[in-house]
Amino acid sequence: MKVAIASDHGGVNLKEEIKKLLTSMEITFEDFGCECGTSVDYPDYALPVAQKVVAGEFDRGILICGTGIGMSIAANKVKGIRCALVHDVFSAKATREHNDTNMLAMGERVIGPGLAQEIVKTWLTTEFAGGRHTNRIEKMMNIESM
Ligand code: RB5
Repeated sequence: MKVAIASDHGGVNLKEEIKKLLTSMEITFEDFGCECGTSVDYPDYALPVAQKVVAGEFDRGILICGTGIGMSIAANKVKGIRCALVHDVFSAKATREHNDTNMLAMGERVIGPGLAQEIVKTWLTTEFAGGRHTNRIEKMMNIESM
């Protein structure tokens, strides 16, 4: 599995913690910024990661900002992206099983690194459940062409 990761200035510290986890899980990843000490605009970092996931260059994308909200909204504007804003382990598991999410957003100002790492671990290792959820995802994605 290949993971693309990015943050704005509000998520840069948590991004480093998640990178440590990915390294320890031996998961290949690429960091698409920011490296920032200065303020940046989160859509500039959400868009390239979302595009690379849709293009199949990466299997999953992880985005971090202060709240995770701006990043998740921006990523979900890209056709083919299902990005979940997650701050608990139950939702991390459920959104993989039910929504087959290909991107995850979190907020550094909302949760600590320990919980964030548990969320990422769960999200990366949980399979889509298929079955009744498949049709629901199809209906959801059809909204993109309406
Ligand atoms: C930046 O101050 C903050 O707005 C951003 O990190 C994020 O929380 C937006 O949703």
